[in-house]
Amino acid sequence: MNHSYEEKVLELIRRLKRGEQAGPASLPAHPRVTLEPVTWADADEPQSIHTLAEWRKKANPYFPAQFPVSEEGTHRWLVHSTLEVPDRLLLWAVSAEGQRTGHLGLFRFDFTDRSVELDNVVRGVEGVLPGLMQAAVESLLVWTFETLAIDAVYLRVLSDNERALRLYQRCGFQETMRMPLVREQEGDAVRWVEAQADHRRPVTRYFVTMRLLATERRQRKAQLAGPHHVLRATMPQTRSDFTHQP
Ligand SMILES: CC(C)(COP(=O)(O)OP(=O)(O)OC[C@H]1O[C@@H](n2cnc3c(N)ncnc32)[C@H](O)[C@@H]1OP(=O)(O)O)[C@@H](O)C(=O)NCCC(=O)NCCS
Repeated sequence: MNHSYEEKVLELIRRLKRGEQAGPASLPAHPRVTLEPVTWADADEPQSIHTLAEWRKKANPYFPAQFPVSEEGTHRWLVHSTLEVPDRLLLWAVSAEGQRTGHLGLFRFDFTDRSVELDNVVRGVEGVLPGLMQAAVESLLVWTFETLAIDAVYLRVLSDNERALRLYQRCGFQETMRMPLVREQEGDAVRWVEAQADHRRPVTRYFVTMRLLATERRQRKAQLAGPHHVLRATMPQTRSDFTHQP
């Protein structure tokens, strides 16, 4: 394993969560959307917790675990399941007008094969700026592939989440696998969990895994490149800190 690569990426994520500048590894500029890390300051900011809780409530049906969302629980989740997790980074998608419109992130890096999961993509504000979430995903992909020198980005999405599937397909992701799910209820919480091998009843919902390889993205970018393409993102100045070591 390339420890120095892993340490560099984790140190960068730590710095972003502390609200520090990332220098040449900064998130890329994009004309439509700015990605701003969710930081430790957000954990102390009631408005941020409120926003995250409201957005999670609204997105509940689209996640495999559905539960009553509270601000206390959201604060715990932000601190213990996001900020304290070294290889998890959540980012606000901020419109050109400065409005927090959604969030998205990266989670579960595999530093050996240089892959990572696209995590927690949620549009918080509906009915404004169509295409903003696509711009946010595209911008994060630029950073992930070009600055972090990741080779493959994966994601998991429920099979009936058509809007999300459309978004990911527009960004170039392709399905690689689907896992049958069964519904489990515990009090007022519902969990969709993988069906066991001896499961016999019909299955209606799947967890779809999608993947985008750096090589595929480069080909796609070459096809899409054109003077008027709205989603063309600004490339960072350098990726030298994160390029593959022999
Ligand atoms: C998944 C999710 C983030 C997608 O957000 P979104 O608003 O559809 O994404 P965008 O901002 O890129 O908007 C895309 C829509 O605007 C349309 N659009 C894009 N540019 C446009 C433009 N210039 N003019 C008009 N429409 C445009 C797209 O065609 C698309 O519409 P469609 O899905 O009906 O085809 C959102 O549905 C969501 O938050 N869902 C709940 C949480 C969730 O499911 N997360 C994913 C978990 S895996």
